[in-house]
Amino acid sequence: MVTARLILDPHFAVGAINRRIFGSFVEHLGRCVYDGIYEPGHSTADAEGFRGDVIDLVKELGTTTIRYPGGNFVSGFKWEDSVGPREDRPRRLDLAWHSTETNEIGLHEFSSWLAKVDSELMLAINLGTRGVEEALDLVEYTNIRSGSTLSDQRIANGQVEPFGVTMWCLGNEMDGPWQLGHRSAEDYGKIASQTAKALRQLDERLELVVCGSSSAQMPTFGSWERTVLQHTYDDVDYISCHAYYEERGGDLTSFLASGVNMDHFIESVVATADSVKAELRSSKQINISFDEWNVWYIDRYQQVDRITDIEEWPVAPRLLEDVYSVADAVVFGSLLISLLKHADRVQSASLAQLVNVIAPIMTEPGGDSWRQTTFFPFAVTSRLARGTVLEVRLESDTHETKEYGTVATVDAVATVDAEAGTAAVFLVNRSETEEATVTIDVAALGDLGLLEASTLADDDVYAANTLADQNRVGLSPNTSAVIVDGVVTITLPAVSWSAVSLG
Ligand code: AHR
Repeated sequence: MVTARLILDPHFAVGAINRRIFGSFVEHLGRCVYDGIYEPGHSTADAEGFRGDVIDLVKELGTTTIRYPGGNFVSGFKWEDSVGPREDRPRRLDLAWHSTETNEIGLHEFSSWLAKVDSELMLAINLGTRGVEEALDLVEYTNIRSGSTLSDQRIANGQVEPFGVTMWCLGNEMDGPWQLGHRSAEDYGKIASQTAKALRQLDERLELVVCGSSSAQMPTFGSWERTVLQHTYDDVDYISCHAYYEERGGDLTSFLASGVNMDHFIESVVATADSVKAELRSSKQINISFDEWNVWYIDRYQQVDRITDIEEWPVAPRLLEDVYSVADAVVFGSLLISLLKHADRVQSASLAQLVNVIAPIMTEPGGDSWRQTTFFPFAVTSRLARGTVLEVRLESDTHETKEYGTVATVDAVATVDAEAGTAAVFLVNRSETEEATVTIDVAALGDLGLLEASTLADDDVYAANTLADQNRVGLSPNTSAVIVDGVVTITLPAVSWSAVSLG
């Protein structure tokens, strides 16, 4: 039996939760947009062709900010193609995913969909094949009220009010050799700085994200962040982090401890940003936009799905349609714990992605939509994690992993909403064989009762929800949870993710 103990004290706060941490990502990739959020012939489609069942699921998931339209797609994207009368919009080859982009859905339509799911638009700019001028044009089109050619064009295209987009990504994964317009850190740092300065001359309200590394495994990780920030420190607000995890070579033990890697990744980027701050004698703090994170079986894409045939440029092919297991969802829940533990510096995050493409929500054309296993930790964490993250004093048994050495078997984070008089604790048990008994001392939070305790676990850690068996895996009430004299005791099954709420 594994044991762990946490003490929560409202005096020890990590930081306020920025709700943008519960963001997601919609890329023009595979069936994320077409046959995903948009399917005009579907029985639940609304007048604009958006699937009502998907809208309901996205609302239940609880996303806040949605990054759009890529991803790798954005580095070859001409935003002008996606606005104006639909019949005039060009069909373009998308080199990133070897597909055809019809531009049936563009900025206006996507923005209208966002209003239906109560989420904010976060736009990425093409700094792959384009530059400062096109970025300025896009911000003029989206954010200037009227009286200029592009703002008036937006109005003529049906959007009288500016879109008022605040969050902007200055390109995507520009460190990656696969990226159209891939650049060295020096070259990217210069163009990102020039673009940021120009955009701020147009609209000083913008919040700008400069590209960090596309993963902590990149050979340039660390030096990329340093060089890019040396060029852009005064011009931007955030540096991005991207991370995808998968079980490799049957090493479930290491995979379950992926959160340790995410913790280290975040802390390394914070350290690098703060060392540039010191070098520059700046008083400004750069925060993190963790704008791509998830479990992703990248090898399956490389070896099975990837299209390379010059004759083949399909519209909305089935790409990156990973089916997530219970183990994947437990890791996924632990990644959310890691993001929350760093709430003082992670101010925005985007689960990559939202529908069909490495997604918590799946759809079948003309058919059903369903929740993958990863849906549950996201929905519950977004609903319950409110207010402030507390520094939990965690004492846990440990175990060995090949990838990350000795790790805590139980990981956890807690949040408290002083105004609402509620608190929540999110926990993961990484043991493959043993239950964990966790005691959580909440006495310092006042007189709280147990509101809800739920757990995601299964005897088969590879069980998943599929079209044929859509509700195979779900959350179960954790009936072991009790509170006595300000101490919660809960038993966590092996390989499980849990949430406890108090109020
Ligand atoms: O989310 C899938 C892809 O992963 C994105 O397009 C890219 O930015 C990353 O490499």
